[in-house]
Amino acid sequence: MTDSSEDRRTAWEERYNSSERIWSGAANAALVDVAGALEPGRALDLGCGEGADAIWLTGRGWRVTGVDISQTALDRARVDATTAGIEPRHIDWVCADLTTWQPEGSFDLASACFLHDTHGFERAPVIARAAASIVPGGHLLIVSHAEMPPWANAHHHGQMPTAEEEARMVETAGGVWEAAIVEVRRRQATGPGGQRAELADNVVLMRRAAR
Ligand SMILES: C[S@@+](CC[C@H](N)C(=O)[O-])C[C@H]1O[C@@H](n2cnc3c(N)ncnc32)[C@H](O)[C@@H]1O
Repeated sequence: MTDSSEDRRTAWEERYNSSERIWSGAANAALVDVAGALEPGRALDLGCGEGADAIWLTGRGWRVTGVDISQTALDRARVDATTAGIEPRHIDWVCADLTTWQPEGSFDLASACFLHDTHGFERAPVIARAAASIVPGGHLLIVSHAEMPPWANAHHHGQMPTAEEEARMVETAGGVWEAAIVEVRRRQATGPGGQRAELADNVVLMRRAAR
């Protein structure tokens, strides 16, 4: 069954309100690795959560739009950006449901890091709209769980796309794309109960061919 936008928003608000912080506050390692090698421009962070990736990008000269369905997450992101000394004009925080949100303008980089949702979220059209907003020569980065973390509820998350399937979502959006990275990376992580585990992430970097 597909949840309504309001159901999705309520569920994420409840999750964020269950704790003062959910995420570590550190930018995702794959984003740091990939974006650290790119010339800064305009970036779009899909499902930016508490804002660590957007803040990291802004600190490296990117002008960022961070989109999330949770206003609570965005309020935390805004506070952290202010604490980090980021000028407000360098980050736009947009509270919207990505299943219907249309990017305005064009971007040199879009990233979807762990844009997972258990509430009837159809990922392919969201990725396709982001892909359509990428300029020639620009990049789209997807980082997602290749296997569910042991502490997650696998039943709720259902089947996870493979790295190859993530890459195809970008290609089917139209335009000519080069697959720069399509792989599974392993990393050590700490779960909500402090438990340690090795996690497997899909890391997919697609480059839109220059005209
Ligand atoms: C697993 S968290 C990842 C957060 C962040 N990207 C990170 O890596 O730490 C997924 C995020 O996507 C957001 N999200 C889920 N479904 C969404 C939707 N339909 N529209 C906008 N944001 C959504 C959630 O609110 C949450 O902040």
